[in-house]
Amino acid sequence: MYILGIESSCDETAVAVVKDGNQVLSNCVYSQINAHKTKGGVVPDLASRLHCKHINPLIEKSLHDANLEWSNLDAIAVTQGPGLEASLLVGISAAKTLAHCCQLPLIPVNHLHGHIYAHFLSVTPPSFPFITLLVSGGNTLLCLVKNHYDFDLIGATRDDAAGEAFDKIGRYLGLGYPAGPKIERLANHASDLKIPFPKPMLHDGLDFSFSGLKTAVMTYIDQNPDVAKEDICSNVQSTIIELLFHKSLSACKQYDCFNLAITGGVAANQTLSTYFSDHCKTEGLSFFGLPRNLCTDNAAMIATAAYYKATFTTFNSSCEVNPSLTL
Ligand code: KG4
Repeated sequence: MYILGIESSCDETAVAVVKDGNQVLSNCVYSQINAHKTKGGVVPDLASRLHCKHINPLIEKSLHDANLEWSNLDAIAVTQGPGLEASLLVGISAAKTLAHCCQLPLIPVNHLHGHIYAHFLSVTPPSFPFITLLVSGGNTLLCLVKNHYDFDLIGATRDDAAGEAFDKIGRYLGLGYPAGPKIERLANHASDLKIPFPKPMLHDGLDFSFSGLKTAVMTYIDQNPDVAKEDICSNVQSTIIELLFHKSLSACKQYDCFNLAITGGVAANQTLSTYFSDHCKTEGLSFFGLPRNLCTDNAAMIATAAYYKATFTTFNSSCEVNPSLTL
């Protein structure tokens, strides 16, 4: 089954073709980062205009890279939400047009399910049940995945997402947008200085809170202008990683689950991935990470989520935009 997937929820325009839910035949991404980075964050109007400009050439490129004709496709999948409304509408309009013209079924996909299903593009996907930590710019959540399309949301952020904390602290340090990868690079050149930043809600259930950490770091920067950015970045990064791992481990213990998977843009952080991998070994858990291009927003994960949705659920193919869709 060949599915063409479209993703346009935020600042990546992405189109991919995936065969049978696990073979990526093409995975095209146009990142808008260069356009937004001078503005300090994603500008919604600009994002939707850039999606309009790039989506048709990307659709053609994706089909060409997959070496397929329109007549070879079996379905069109598209991100329905959550995300920026005007950006989502660009992908949905393109997908509806293609589905109508090619007389193909349209499969609406929840972006968060897409991030979870990125794991099914791996050679060895996690076996059920598994806990997923989804950490991105817009979301930080813990999910118990019991089976295909059988998810329980077991923890979520009460305020900022982890990626948002990286980005806001990075902006305060003058690192531009997105700051996560820059914080990671600077942290690699830090000294041994240890700064005891707070870990909010550490022992308080499976929910997260990052806004207190953000405020504490900003106050520390104001009060300690001579401390090197590298040391601040390293301590911010390790505080966030330790907090994320502590909650993920608590989730595994609470739900008697031995498989822990991470996904979303922040999961591209190599220091985080190594920390999780090492500590999972110590705790007797199997760890599942992802390559960078499957952590950040992409359309292969949308096509894969659509494949399993079509296989394991009876879905409604009417697709209305839903910017605040939840898990
Ligand atoms: O999943 P994603 O591509 O899309 C959105 O949620 O929009 O995640 C983007 C987020 C940004 O906040 C970015 O700073 C963060 O992921 N990120 C990272 C790294 N690479 C991307 N955070 C920490 N370390 C990284 N290496």
